[in-house]
Amino acid sequence: MKSLLRSYSEADSERFLAVATQITAHAARSGKTKLASELKELLEEIKQKQQSDRIGGAVPVARPQGELQFLLSVSYPKTRLSEMVLGQVQQESLARVLHEYRQQSKLRHHGLSARRKLLLVGPPGCGKTMTSKALAGELKLPHFAVQLHSLITKFMGETAAKLHAIFEAMNETRGIYLFDEFDAIGGERGSKNDVGEIRRVLNSFLQFLEQDDSDSLIVAATNNVQILDDALFRRFDDVITYEFPNAAAVRKLILNRLAPFCVPSFEWSGLEAAAETLSHADICQACDNAAKDAVLSDRDTIDESVLQRSLLNRKRHRSRK
Ligand SMILES: Nc1ncnc2c1ncn2[C@@H]1O[C@H](COP(=O)(O)OP(=O)(O)OP(=O)(O)O)[C@@H](O)[C@H]1O
Ligand SMILES: [Mg+2]
Repeated sequence: MKSLLRSYSEADSERFLAVATQITAHAARSGKTKLASELKELLEEIKQKQQSDRIGGAVPVARPQGELQFLLSVSYPKTRLSEMVLGQVQQESLARVLHEYRQQSKLRHHGLSARRKLLLVGPPGCGKTMTSKALAGELKLPHFAVQLHSLITKFMGETAAKLHAIFEAMNETRGIYLFDEFDAIGGERGSKNDVGEIRRVLNSFLQFLEQDDSDSLIVAATNNVQILDDALFRRFDDVITYEFPNAAAVRKLILNRLAPFCVPSFEWSGLEAAAETLSHADICQACDNAAKDAVLSDRDTIDESVLQRSLLNRKRHRSRK
């Protein structure tokens, strides 16, 4: 019973079902056949409802009404952190976020709160958005991407009210709320080219962020650390930085991405040199090119020279930008 209640309070529906199944089996074993068959029926109902919720989106804001449909886009990612190539510090920070989040009722009981407000900072293609999705996948929560661009352009003049609506949604529907490309509102307050509206949005964002004591996890992501000011940093529970992959990460990334294929014993120094200055996303794309080449030429094995060329092509493409 304790496990059942704990799984409910932590919104761990898989564990809830597992425990409920055990209780049903126990009832059957102890000869309480009527109770067992009633529990079984209820369990089936719950499972079916869960499935249709996932497909039909029965989470209240999954079919956002009115303005929210322009502001939030929902998904149910299956991404896991184990699919990501991360540095040790990132891994530890994220593990701590998951651990605290899963134990938030225990922390709250002692007047403490789990870290829920994260700022992810780093260059494009190094896994900020993927991290946000992986947190949703790990915690089995819906993922709401906040459409900041719509917020600023469509609702010019009423952005604070819309931002308020988003923070209300966080209270109503537990989930991961991603403010991606946060630079859009995260510009240094008072800087020369600051538009009044953007400054107002940022100020209200900071206020809402500070007041928020929902059960949702708030993730803000940005490429540009310089334009974020101190007031912002202070209001996040954790700031996680992302960097271009080092040689070890390049190897891991390539091997992970090409895991479904046979890979020859690569001449790593050449591939690592070709991948220098590339992001995780670039390297994944180059791997996909090499994989497509193998599939289309009916080979199981990846051709190292195709991979090398794809990496170099991406690098050339980068330096032209
Ligand atoms: N650390 C990583 N480990 C494994 N794959 C990664 C990693 N980072 C990025 N990728 C791959 O690159 C893709 C794009 O990454 P993502 O969208 O998370 O980058 P980002 O940091 O959010 O970039 P941007 O700043 O442009 O939004 C991912 O979907 C994934 O395939
Ligand atoms: Mg991103």
